[in-house]
Amino acid sequence: MAEGGVAASMGNVDPDDGWQTHFMDTMRSGKFLNNWRMVETFVKEAPDRVYELEQWGALFNRTEEGKISQRAFGGHTYRRLCHVGDRTGLEMIRTLQEKVLATDTKVYMETTVTRLFKKNGRVVGALAYTRESGKFIHFKAKAVVLTTGGWGRIYKVTSNSWEGTGDGAILAYEAGAELMDMEMVQFHPTGMVWPPGVRGILVTEGVRGEGGILRNAEGERYMENYDPERMELSSRDVVARANYTEVQEGRGSPHGGVYLDISPLGYDNIMKKLPTMYEQFHKLADIDISEEPMEVFPTVHYTMGGIRVNAETCETTVSGLFAAGECAAGLHGANRLGGNSLSDLLVFGRRAGAGAAEYVKSNGYSTEIEASEVEAEKERVLKPLEKQGEGENPYTIQQELQQAMMEHANLMRIEESLKEGLDKVLALKDRLPDVKVHGSTLFNPGWHTAEDIRHLIQVSELILRSALERKEQRGAQWRLDYEGQDEELGSINFIVKKDEQGEVGIEKREISPMPEHLANLFEEE
Ligand code: FUM
Repeated sequence: MAEGGVAASMGNVDPDDGWQTHFMDTMRSGKFLNNWRMVETFVKEAPDRVYELEQWGALFNRTEEGKISQRAFGGHTYRRLCHVGDRTGLEMIRTLQEKVLATDTKVYMETTVTRLFKKNGRVVGALAYTRESGKFIHFKAKAVVLTTGGWGRIYKVTSNSWEGTGDGAILAYEAGAELMDMEMVQFHPTGMVWPPGVRGILVTEGVRGEGGILRNAEGERYMENYDPERMELSSRDVVARANYTEVQEGRGSPHGGVYLDISPLGYDNIMKKLPTMYEQFHKLADIDISEEPMEVFPTVHYTMGGIRVNAETCETTVSGLFAAGECAAGLHGANRLGGNSLSDLLVFGRRAGAGAAEYVKSNGYSTEIEASEVEAEKERVLKPLEKQGEGENPYTIQQELQQAMMEHANLMRIEESLKEGLDKVLALKDRLPDVKVHGSTLFNPGWHTAEDIRHLIQVSELILRSALERKEQRGAQWRLDYEGQDEELGSINFIVKKDEQGEVGIEKREISPMPEHLANLFEEE
């Protein structure tokens, strides 16, 4: 779904760029909650991963000299985003799918995992069902890698696809793994606002990277008031709050957004650099962006929090379980830089695969689990279909959840409201046993939703509880009842783990100090 590009400090356009600057930009944007070792690995390996993708057939835009073209993005000191017009994510998916198909990997499309099985403290498999036929599959595994993405679907307005339901994080949580920084949810500054059916669809940061200007209904270029130095290319948390504030304070557009104008770039350049944006607004909103501004407003886009992983191998705190990408935590801290997610996938996707392969070599035995455990899980999953009498509609619960999260865990937060949100979410959790759906297991979206909402509700509870704990304004966590950053919390991750009573346990954990060679980068600067 990401459009604007893959961040890697190749220096193709700005030769002064290097891993050191990318490191500092990423740490600063993450407000130093990042796992510095992950960031170091990431910035050093990202360029090689991009070249690897190119060798596998990805077709990037080019500079005049024929190098991979790189564009500006918010919070990056240099032009650093390798891009394929504004369709970079799609090109990455195409390339990686072709690469996988060229191997003998067996791919189970449209298959949902409902539970991970453990034996002797180690993950040994999973139960899943295929969405089309509803048939169960019991996977026996020597290692499992979770790459399930984030949980934007807990909100009504999001740029995420329908799959962003937090499955990986909650499967790991249920299996006893540690999660962290769950309060950190990124609102992308620019999603579509009109017509209502398209609200939340991403308007790439590439628009601002190519010179797009933000104005309020009074015609004022208001970023002057929020970050006069970086203006529209400030970090996402800052621009999202600016857009939100302009609308809250009555300077919004008729549909409750602000204006983003790329028309000075001209039709030809727009078609070359932002063709998807042109098409998207033309087809969905009847707007010609080469002639008139777009209306935009923040949309839930990304989750920085997630499963805690080892920086080298991506192993979680549960043996045999690995995680990479958006469902994992650590790289982005309190706020992700645009473009860092695609290179995150490339760097840590590879590392997680290598980590799991290494693990299997030294822990290669397979362990059978009791058949009764598998049967019990199937029974649980089938329950909504077998429920007699009246029951709860899963879509109603999903809608109420999305409404509650929009209202109580938005980009400005306050204790009273967070508590109210938590009460609402816990009340929805209590209604889960009564969920009932009609029909059979054959392609049945209602049944799938009944399963999805379990994860959506659990992940929402973890976000609200963590947001209540972090009492400060840092990156994506903006508490209106506290002023600025709390110095002590600047070196604290909030670790979330299921406790022995099955309740949510939250622990403050100190981040280890940066080693000299990294700390010196900031000193030197
Ligand atoms: O704005 C965008 O194109 C999104 C990119 C990202 O989230 O990295």
